[in-house]
Amino acid sequence: MSVTRKYSLTLFGATGFTGGLCADYLGQHIPVGTQWAIAGRNEQKLQDVCDRLKDGGCQTLPSIVVADVSDADSLESMAADSKVVITTVGPYVQYGEALARSCAAKGTHYCDLTGEPEFVNNMISRYHDLAKSQGAALVNCCGFDSIPHDAGVLLTVRALEKALGKPLSSRVDVEGVVTANGTFSGGTWQSAITAFGRPKQNKLAMQQAKKALDNLFPKKARALPMRTFHDKEFGRWLCPMPTIDPYIVIRSARAIDSYGPDFHYGHYAGIKSLPKMLGGIAGIGGLLLASQVGFIRNKLLTFKQSGDGPAKEQRARSWFKVTFRGRSEGTQVMTRVSGGDPGYDETAKMLAETAMALAFDKGYPKQTGVITPIMALEDRMIERLQTAGMTFEVL
Ligand SMILES: NC(=O)c1ccc[n+]([C@@H]2O[C@H](COP(=O)([O-])OP(=O)(O)OC[C@H]3O[C@@H](n4cnc5c(N)ncnc54)[C@H](OP(=O)(O)O)[C@@H]3O)[C@@H](O)[C@H]2O)c1
Repeated sequence: MSVTRKYSLTLFGATGFTGGLCADYLGQHIPVGTQWAIAGRNEQKLQDVCDRLKDGGCQTLPSIVVADVSDADSLESMAADSKVVITTVGPYVQYGEALARSCAAKGTHYCDLTGEPEFVNNMISRYHDLAKSQGAALVNCCGFDSIPHDAGVLLTVRALEKALGKPLSSRVDVEGVVTANGTFSGGTWQSAITAFGRPKQNKLAMQQAKKALDNLFPKKARALPMRTFHDKEFGRWLCPMPTIDPYIVIRSARAIDSYGPDFHYGHYAGIKSLPKMLGGIAGIGGLLLASQVGFIRNKLLTFKQSGDGPAKEQRARSWFKVTFRGRSEGTQVMTRVSGGDPGYDETAKMLAETAMALAFDKGYPKQTGVITPIMALEDRMIERLQTAGMTFEVL
C-alpha cells in the first residue's frame, strides 16, 4: 500500500468495553507523534474516551471520527482515511460486513475481534479477491480467539524444525490444550448467543468458504479426530473445543510452507476432573439448544448488556495457559503460551499490537486478502507479543 492516509490507524468501537481497553493500550504504546483516530457513533462518548486518555498521560491524543454501521458513507470515508482500521463493533455477523467491504475496496488493512465462523467464512467468499486486488490484509480473530493458538502453533512448528534439524517434510501432529480462568463481557455474550442461533446460515457460509479456500490453498491440513480422552502427559481430560481457533490454525497451516505438507491439529480444553468436564459439556450443549428457540434466545440476549464487562480487579485475577504438544517423525516438543486476563486485557493488547504491526512494521503483512493473524505477521507476531509481556516458551 503506497498511498498516504490521514491516519496510520483508526479504532472503531472505542466507546465499547473491549474497544475502550484497546484505546487505553494504544494511548500508552502508539509511537509518539502518530496521527491516529478513535471512531464510533456517539461523539460525546468518544470525547470522554479522549479525556480519559489525556488523564492517563497519553502523549499523542487521537482525533475523533464519527461513523455508524448504518451509514455506509461514514464507513467508506473512515476506511479511505486510514492505513489500518481496527473494529471492536460486534456481533460482527450483524454489524461487521459493511466495514469489511469498505476496507477491502479502499485497500485498507483491517483487524477485528470476531470469533464468529459465519462472519469469517462470508468474508473469505465475498471479499478475499477484492481485498487482495487492492493490497489490503483483512485479519480476523485478533484477540484470545485466536492469536495465542495461532501463534503457539507457529512456535511449536519452529521448535519441531529445530529439534529435527530441518524443515518439516512429513506428517506433523500438534495438539493445543487450553486452561484459563476469566469471565466475559456483554458484547461477547451477545455475539455468542447470536452465533449459536444461526446454524443454517453458518453451514452455508462454511460451504462457500470451503470452495474458495480449496482453490486458494490446495495444501493439506486437517483437524485431528474429535475425541475426548484422559491424557497422562497433560494430567487432564482433554475435551475438543468447538471454537473458531482450530479453523484459524488450519488455515495458517495451509497457507504457510513451514507447517509441512501434511499438518494436523487438535484443540482441547484441559480439565482436571471428569465431573467438571461433563458439567461443562452439558452447560454449553444446553445453551446451544436453548439458542435455537427464538423467544428463549431473545431472553438470553438480555442477560448481559452491551458495554458491561469484568472489573479491573477481576481481570487482574484472570489468566490463561495454552500448552502445545508437537510430533513429527518420532520427535516430540512441548511449548506454551501464557498471559493474564485472556478475554479483555490480553485481547486488547493482541489486537493493538497486530494493528500497530500492520501500520508500522516494514515488510508486513506477509500476505493480503482475508487472512489469519499468523498469515499476516508470522514470527513477528511472537516477537511483538513477547516484547509486550506475553510468555512464549519451549518447555
Ligand atoms: N474473540 C475474542 O477473543 C474477543 C474478546 C473480547 C471481545 N470480543 C468481541 O468483540 C466485540 C465487542 O465486545 P465488547 O464486549 O467490547 O462489546 P460492547 O462493549 O458492547 O461494545 C460494542 C461497541 O460497538 C459499538 N456499536 C454498536 N452499534 C453500533 C453502530 N450502529 N455504529 C457504530 N458503533 C456501534 C458500541 O458503540 P456505543 O458505545 O455507541 O453503544 C460499542 O462501542 C464482540 O463481538 C465480542 O464478541 C472478542
